Amino acid sequence: MIIHINDRPCEVQVGDLLLKVAQNNKSHIGYICGGNGICQSCFVYVKEGADCLSEPGTDEKTFISDKLLQEGGRLACRTTIRKEGSIKVLTRAENLRRIVLGLNVPGFITYAQTIGYNVVNQLPGGVSNIFNRVREGRLNPVDTLKKIGSGLGPASLLAVSSFMETFPFLQFPASILCGGARGLVSTAGNAISSLTGGRLQLPGICGPCCESEKAPAFEPVTITVKQV
Ligand code: FES
Repeated sequence: MIIHINDRPCEVQVGDLLLKVAQNNKSHIGYICGGNGICQSCFVYVKEGADCLSEPGTDEKTFISDKLLQEGGRLACRTTIRKEGSIKVLTRAENLRRIVLGLNVPGFITYAQTIGYNVVNQLPGGVSNIFNRVREGRLNPVDTLKKIGSGLGPASLLAVSSFMETFPFLQFPASILCGGARGLVSTAGNAISSLTGGRLQLPGICGPCCESEKAPAFEPVTITVKQV
């Protein structure tokens, strides 16, 4: 069946993850945390067909305010196609690009207010959600850091390509600046990706494999910076 992401037709099957569909179709969508339901860069507005998607789970309800949920807000990395039907989705990245492209100042103010409200109200619950998931073994912090490290590169490319599409006349000067910025982001990403050293433990949290009560709250973690 066909659904529409940012007005682009995308082939999907029931059971597909919305984030994967967007990625496969090169839609403007972020996935900085690698689909772990933390960064919210995969946030989308479901414009049509919410009933054809999986119900919002605890992770989404923690990070998205009730108001945004009612407006169709979802995390694409937590949303699957549940049944066939007409589905239309707008990603937050594309929404922002359209606001900027249309020089829509009132739209931008509303956008900033909504995001600000969501961050202020949902952050405490979001942080505790992450701690709980680590404690329950549903989230591996080292693995997540690696994913964030490798997600920085694509995220910077997404930002750069969106910028270029929005302001093509700035292509030459921006390419010089972005080249340097991309190098920095890539270096940071590689550094995080090189994180080694086994378990990263949070204070007072022991993993299922932790038998000893004398285990230190933190274990040493080695960070290696690659030469590029
Ligand atoms: S990819 Fe980070 S929250 Fe979905």
